[in-house]
Amino acid sequence: MRLTAVQLEKLADEFETKSPQEILKWAIDTFGTKIGLASSFGAEDVVIIDMMAGIDKSRTKVFTLETGRLNQETYDVIDAIRARYEIPIEAYFPDQKEVEDMIRPKGMNLMYESVENRKLCCEIRKVHPLNRALATLDGWITGLRRDQVVTRSTTRKIELDAAHGGIIKLNPIADWSSDRVWDYIKENNVPYNALHDKGLPSIGCEPCTRAVQPGEDPRAGRWWWENAATKECGLHFDPTKKKHQ
Ligand code: ADX
Ligand code: SF4
Repeated sequence: MRLTAVQLEKLADEFETKSPQEILKWAIDTFGTKIGLASSFGAEDVVIIDMMAGIDKSRTKVFTLETGRLNQETYDVIDAIRARYEIPIEAYFPDQKEVEDMIRPKGMNLMYESVENRKLCCEIRKVHPLNRALATLDGWITGLRRDQVVTRSTTRKIELDAAHGGIIKLNPIADWSSDRVWDYIKENNVPYNALHDKGLPSIGCEPCTRAVQPGEDPRAGRWWWENAATKECGLHFDPTKKKHQ
């Protein structure tokens, strides 16, 4: 099912005053398992999983981009989520040949050598598998929040994703703060990634994420050796607007 630009604008206005649960119920009722949550198993994503499972476990579709470089803590929370909600987690791996062809000349730690190499690694390990996942769907759900980074400040709760064939992109907690996310996790006893207790507010791949100091920008630990302007992996890039979220 595809929405027109006019229908989408109307929904975007309506969703501003709706709860994430109402938005997710609409998504599941409208798209069933043709819409899925992209989960890195950070705090935002486990909140959304808890909400989706509360609406309808049998139609809760969750997928993750298994880059091959995730932290053990991330694998542990994936299993904790599977056990708690009794839902499958679909893991999309990178293409074997693309990874082999990349690391043969450039090495395992190519991401530290240049921004170009780092982006190539993200392209092969994240963006291509995302494209493969989204090719099967009419929409995807993310845990993007407006206050995470300035480029996300205008994120709408529902968007048309021109970069992925015009499917729906739903950001149901776009207007939530980090505190609200953590209140929800505690109140509902949601399993969360142990990396958060080790000073990592933002979850990515192990070689590219480190702890931040109290008061530091929550995303400072992502690709920490790079200039702030380059710090995105391409999952949320819209070529039509030429901008990242
Ligand atoms: S990123 O672009 O900088 O990597 P971020 O880590 O903030 O994104 O995550 C934002 C949203 O992107 C998450 O809430 C999730 O929906 C999606 N996402 C990020 N990484 C992954 C991943 N490895 N697998 C699936 N979804 C992901
Ligand atoms: Fe590669 Fe790092 Fe990007 Fe993960 S975050 S895909 S390890 S460059």
